[in-house]
Amino acid sequence: MIPLPPLPQPPADELKIFQTTVSWGITDPERFHALLDEARQLVAPGYYLGDNLFTWCRNVSPLEDPHFVTAWQNNAINDSDEAILWRRYILACAAAHAIHLEGDFVECGVYAGTGVKTVIDYLGGPQFPKTFWGYDTFDYNPVEGHAFPGQAPGFFHAICERFQAYPQVRLIQGLLPDSFQQGAPQRIAYLHIDLNHAEAEIAVLNVLFDRVVPGGMIILDDYEWSGVYRAQKLAEDQWFQSRNYRVMPLPTGQGLVFKR
Ligand SMILES: C[S@@+](CC[C@H](N)C(=O)[O-])C[C@H]1O[C@@H](n2cnc3c(N)ncnc32)[C@H](O)[C@@H]1O
Repeated sequence: MIPLPPLPQPPADELKIFQTTVSWGITDPERFHALLDEARQLVAPGYYLGDNLFTWCRNVSPLEDPHFVTAWQNNAINDSDEAILWRRYILACAAAHAIHLEGDFVECGVYAGTGVKTVIDYLGGPQFPKTFWGYDTFDYNPVEGHAFPGQAPGFFHAICERFQAYPQVRLIQGLLPDSFQQGAPQRIAYLHIDLNHAEAEIAVLNVLFDRVVPGGMIILDDYEWSGVYRAQKLAEDQWFQSRNYRVMPLPTGQGLVFKR
């Protein structure tokens, strides 16, 4: 049995709050934030405000897990990484489950590696006991209009350096799904798909879904986001329906699938 990081008992009468101004899809940010600033003062304690999510009367569990907080804070390299706290904790908790199963960890769409590294550092850092495969084109973004800061020649090299102390991380550069030909695990315990593109995500599922072990978890980062991401939910719902699976939509914008 692999021991998980200890979870201290927090005070029963104290609640954490989380607030960031990083959100998307807002027409008048100044007015929006002024209104939310007023609204948060009208709600009962324990609120979470960020990443397009405002909820209150919550325990805000990510902030009550000090080992996670350290992993999250040490790895956040931009405002978005800080804002998506709850999304990151979903990954950390899925990983805490999957680490006990047979099979490797996989992330399709790694970008700077912050999602991978947060999970690994939460669960042992350099002692993380699984092989973690990360796939991305790295030096460019094949999804139109989605290039992230730094995606230019040399980026892959910089991300490899970020994982220098982690021999269990195998970063594969290239366009998915073809880059699976460079190597891919046969047994998968944890599969995080974050490509921002319906066709590519379905292509990944076509190759990897059958390799996910019973009890394994699949996290679809964009599943419950609408707008330009809605195409992913529409395609994935049909794909999973044809296999008699239902995606669990999360208020974080992610979708979760438990493999049978
Ligand atoms: C949103 S970012 C991933 C963020 C990362 N999962 C995290 O948690 O920080 C999406 C990434 O998917 C990559 N990508 C999109 N389509 C791809 C494809 N067909 N093959 C390889 N990488 C792809 C992009 O280059 C980009 O780095």
